[in-house]
Amino acid sequence: MNTIPARVPDTAPSTLGARALPAWAYDHGELQRLELERVLLPSWQIVCHVNSIPRPGDYATLDFGRESVFAIRDRDGRVRAFHNACRHRGARLLDGAGRCAGPVTCPYHGWSYRTDGSLLAIPSVETFPGIDRTDLGLVEARVEITLGFVFVALRGDPPPVAAAWAPFLEELAPYRIEEMLPLGPITEEHWDADWKIAMDNYLESYHVPVGHPGLYRMFTPDYADQRHAPGIARGIGHLRPQESPRWAERVYQRHVARIATDLPEDYRRSWRFYSALPNLGIDLFPEQMDFFQIVPRGPGRCTIRGGSFGLPDDRREMRPLRYLGARLNAGVNAEDRTLCARVQRGLQSGSYRPGPLSRIECWMVEFHDLLAARIPEIRDPAPPATFAGVPSRSSGAPPR
Ligand code: FES
Ligand SMILES: [Fe+2]
Repeated sequence: MNTIPARVPDTAPSTLGARALPAWAYDHGELQRLELERVLLPSWQIVCHVNSIPRPGDYATLDFGRESVFAIRDRDGRVRAFHNACRHRGARLLDGAGRCAGPVTCPYHGWSYRTDGSLLAIPSVETFPGIDRTDLGLVEARVEITLGFVFVALRGDPPPVAAAWAPFLEELAPYRIEEMLPLGPITEEHWDADWKIAMDNYLESYHVPVGHPGLYRMFTPDYADQRHAPGIARGIGHLRPQESPRWAERVYQRHVARIATDLPEDYRRSWRFYSALPNLGIDLFPEQMDFFQIVPRGPGRCTIRGGSFGLPDDRREMRPLRYLGARLNAGVNAEDRTLCARVQRGLQSGSYRPGPLSRIECWMVEFHDLLAARIPEIRDPAPPATFAGVPSRSSGAPPR
């Protein structure tokens, strides 16, 4: 087993006395309902990148809990977002991603909407005497574009997303994220772990030396580079000068800095990870960028939604570098998936009591504090009596 160097930033908050959340909180239906209502839906969520929908009529949907929303580029070139429910009898309008060559047309009875959300036409309109179309446009969702991503707020009035990212905009500028293009479609992967277990995992690098041996072979641990602004934690891994004995890792180590010439020298040999509360992350590699978003899928289950993007670059050597980077990351992702599922299973042991947290896990504590501020019961040692009657998945409830 690797020895973990004790290099934690002096600025890291103390975790003295801090413990992980109680086991029940990672597998409970009523709690998840409250998490969606009070934490996730009133926060900014990524739908896509602006360059995922470059032409008028291009759209991308985001399904989130019981909600669904789509971002669309309107005829004037503006990105807008609408709740994905027809104003007639509520049918879902769009799926996945694609392009509406004409209006957005409901697949049920054919009501159609312009790309600015206004109601365009109703089949057999004469059968709706006295109808007022002006009040029947799609319900618009708040949109904010930051770092090239289309963020939407499904509920409430969260503070501007740009404000949260402001402390990092300068260091992110060399990547030119806004100019990147999608390298493939947005993907979804189902994990057998509660969304909070996945987020806990993305908020700490304590597990890297043991849980990700490949990363540890290639990179120095990032403890000294952890930096924090409210709601966002950043870690940086620097490529080690010693080459890995593994072929793919070694080839990547050897060539990445030579190929990633768009970036300043000190960026060419590092991977940067930004985890944003409550459920998002952006990872920057010298050759590409990805985002991830953790979407609850019932207690004890979640979906990891994400996509990869890169600057336009048709040099012959960039393609294999991106392939290698993606392959190495897929391995890391598979390790995280397995580790999170192991936590989910381990928490079902009646013997488990939350253990102490390292200072390297301090951003988890901020995450749990945020949850507890909106749902105080989350730190109770057992589900409160008011949550009774809402079974968890492990107690035999059917998945949603
Ligand atoms: S539900 Fe959309 S047209 Fe009827
Ligand atoms: Fe990990």
